[in-house]
Amino acid sequence: MMGENLVIVTNGHDAIPIYSNTKSLSWARFLKQIAGIFGIDMSQEEMLWHQPTPGEERYFSDPNPKNKSLAMWSEALYRQHLYPGQHLENLWKAMSSRLQNGLNWTNLRTRHSGDGGPTMLMDFCAESLITEVTRNLFGELIYEIEPSLTQYIYNLNEENWKLLVFSYPSFAAKQAARAKARIFDAILNYVQSPAELREDSAGLVRTYINEHESAGCNAQTIAGLLCLTLFGANVNVYRLNYWMLSYILRDQGLLETIRTEIAPAFQSNAVNSQYIYDSCPRLCAVWFEALRLTFGGVSVRDVTAPVISHGKRLRPGSTVMIAIRELHSNADVFGANVDDFSATRFLDTDLDKSPYFRPFAGGMNICTGRYLAKRTTLVYVALLLQNLDFEILGRSGAALENGKLPPHEIDQAIPNMGIMAPKKGQEMYVNISERKSG
Ligand code: HEM
Repeated sequence: MMGENLVIVTNGHDAIPIYSNTKSLSWARFLKQIAGIFGIDMSQEEMLWHQPTPGEERYFSDPNPKNKSLAMWSEALYRQHLYPGQHLENLWKAMSSRLQNGLNWTNLRTRHSGDGGPTMLMDFCAESLITEVTRNLFGELIYEIEPSLTQYIYNLNEENWKLLVFSYPSFAAKQAARAKARIFDAILNYVQSPAELREDSAGLVRTYINEHESAGCNAQTIAGLLCLTLFGANVNVYRLNYWMLSYILRDQGLLETIRTEIAPAFQSNAVNSQYIYDSCPRLCAVWFEALRLTFGGVSVRDVTAPVISHGKRLRPGSTVMIAIRELHSNADVFGANVDDFSATRFLDTDLDKSPYFRPFAGGMNICTGRYLAKRTTLVYVALLLQNLDFEILGRSGAALENGKLPPHEIDQAIPNMGIMAPKKGQEMYVNISERKSG
């Protein structure tokens, strides 16, 4: 790679010291690059990464006693709001009631199935989930500013690799570039709106805006950073839901088992989400297996100081890439048929604790949204299976040929930063209706 060393890690045990070594290995360049793509004011970049030193006003200041740079301190803010505790409970309470309202048949039939025609399952998952996730973080104002925001987030994600992996110029990634610009404009307008119009936003977003404003960030920088938050909160979750649903729906026995398993969570008016994520091992096993099989991202770290990795001395300027998909495909760890979905692979095992299982990366920069992601995904899938019946259709929504399910494979050819898409032409189509029994 341009005279620099690229080290690719495919052994889970070798990944542990890489994830935990934040002194010599950094993902700051990657973060800076993405924040730049999302539109932060580049003249403020230095300020975002500057660590307060003695004599400066922000040195040992109250919300940041460890003197982290603003960028690093934001990560601590995410942890505060997204790790188990009162903040997460508040965020989740609002999210679970949104899911419950949004995913009942009366609401869904007007939005998706009014004509009773074939529905592309990915569109359905994206529309129903992105809207709720985004409203839960930003409140109602964001959709008053940009009613098509959900569509733009979807459009950006479906082509995000052109901008985020290969940095294509806008003319070569028109759909993604246009969507990104519209999302940025909406968030900028949102940040510049009076604070009292944003009072129904999540504590995370309110605190994020307040703290960045008081640290001297301008609206453009805050909007760029919040685009990153919005994108991170949305990109993987709806696709993971799609895969979980598609694997469950293609296996009638599994569908019945999971419907029986989740039934006790629906004994009162409000869904018992704690029951779903604590007491439904078969649904959880599907979540782990879908993550293992469909996560296509990598972790990239720059070597910033000499370091020994796997007996090799790495010099500053080298790059280490943890090939997560390779880790997830190790048959010695995960057993036979690693390329196929198995609903029971993670059942009654501690495979999810393996150093080879890394859908959320690891170490200091492990995904801070993983607890929220798990709750959202499991409860979303459970609500849909409880409330709806799905009839699988053939290619592009045509009738099934001789009752045979069409092929349904992951598109591994498109470079990806997270959960992968199905192959073009193999997207799952379904007829959705109110659940008849159960
Ligand atoms: C299935 C869903 C998700 C997957 C697979 C996923 C995956 C990841 C991965 C792999 C990383 C780390 C990249 C690296 O270290 O190389 C990451 C970071 C991050 N994710 Fe997620 N994510 C998911 C959902 C979410 C959600 C719902 C949120 C927020 C609400 C979120 C917020 C973040 C943040 C803030 C970081 C940066 C952490 C840091 O730098 O300290 N993620 N995610």
